Amino acid sequence: MHGVLDQLGRPLHDLRISVTDRCNMRCDYCMPAEIFDSKHRFMHRNELLTFEEINSIVESLIPLGVKKIRLTGGEPLLRRGLEDLIQMLSKHPVEIAMTTNGLLFGGRGKSLRKAGLNRVTFSLDSLDPKVFEQITNTSGEKLDSILNAIDEAIECDLGQVRINSVIRRGINEQDIDRLIEQFEHLPVSLRFIEFMDVGNHNRWRYNNVVPSSEIHNYLKKRMNLIPIDSTHRGEVAKRWMVEGKRGFEIGFISSVSQPFCGDCTRARISAEGRIFTCLFASKGTDLKSIIRDEGNKNTIQNVISEIWKSREDRYSELRSKTPKPGTIVLPKIEMSYIGG
Ligand code: GTP
Ligand code: 5AD
Ligand code: SF4
Ligand code: SF4
Repeated sequence: MHGVLDQLGRPLHDLRISVTDRCNMRCDYCMPAEIFDSKHRFMHRNELLTFEEINSIVESLIPLGVKKIRLTGGEPLLRRGLEDLIQMLSKHPVEIAMTTNGLLFGGRGKSLRKAGLNRVTFSLDSLDPKVFEQITNTSGEKLDSILNAIDEAIECDLGQVRINSVIRRGINEQDIDRLIEQFEHLPVSLRFIEFMDVGNHNRWRYNNVVPSSEIHNYLKKRMNLIPIDSTHRGEVAKRWMVEGKRGFEIGFISSVSQPFCGDCTRARISAEGRIFTCLFASKGTDLKSIIRDEGNKNTIQNVISEIWKSREDRYSELRSKTPKPGTIVLPKIEMSYIGG
């Protein structure tokens, strides 16, 4: 088999695998503390896909065209023995990346690299301890350990380290300058992300979205930005080099103002083994019961192949075409469940 195309001609190229729905932070736009409290029912251990099951799904998807895997959560480093999973997956011809909040990364860079992790992305929205605390419900004192973790990742040669910053109006706009000052001397890709209406609890308002164009116009006056060509179809960030800052780049992920559904080559698998063909999907297909009932790799491959072939998703594009952006109301899956 030489890959599959969906209804809009998009190949299946990337797989985002959530390995846990738990997180050690409580970001207000993702897992607000008042909702994800001690009464919230997280998945039980036996509900999670085992490493063997994840590996078996990946193995059956390689012939369909998958070339890149991104491990997500919740917080992926909360999953015990993650290095073992990475080691299993690294036997396949795929690139392995991870998105983490960095709290548990310190001291593990080398073992993750050795297991086969190729790249890492850190989510970091503010460098101001008070604002960080307000956003993440986590002590601002933890900022130092996250910054150390980022240094460690750079030293461990984990590709070009990426930093994700979701910029929201009135909350952390002042961090744009601070983040640049913090990272401009390092070989990192700092990505400013537009706040998206994922999930049901993040109090998303169109007015809180800071469009990439606004940040770009602001930065253009202060530095010389040189565009970088995208390296592959489906790349989510538009990237720029900064004159005089070797190795540093600034990216914009503009899913609200400039949706990129036309090139979306991603499938997502939740920690309990449901596959989703869009970040905004409400329904997934349960792969775990297929594996546990029949355990057959061909079945999984056929099921996913059929799902992908019938895929028509382009939520962000449709939303941007509504007369009043942001007025589509659909039941949605939580970001911490699907892993972003
Ligand atoms: P690669 O898949 O390796 O290119 O990584 P990435 O940059 O997509 O991953 P990351 O976890 O860093 O996500 C960056 C931001 O882009 C997050 O806010 C994601 O939710 C968002 N994002 C990633 N993929 C998609 C997508 O397919 N659709 C939309 N709307 N947003 C996405
Ligand atoms: N809009 C944009 N990005 C988000 N993330 C989480 N929730 C949202 C949202 N509503 C980001 C996280 C992480 C990445 C996987 O997704 O900050 O970096
Ligand atoms: Fe955790 Fe990331 Fe969600 Fe924050 S955005 S609560 S760090 S999964
Ligand atoms: Fe892909 Fe759905 Fe995001 Fe569009 S909205 S880019 S189809 S995940």
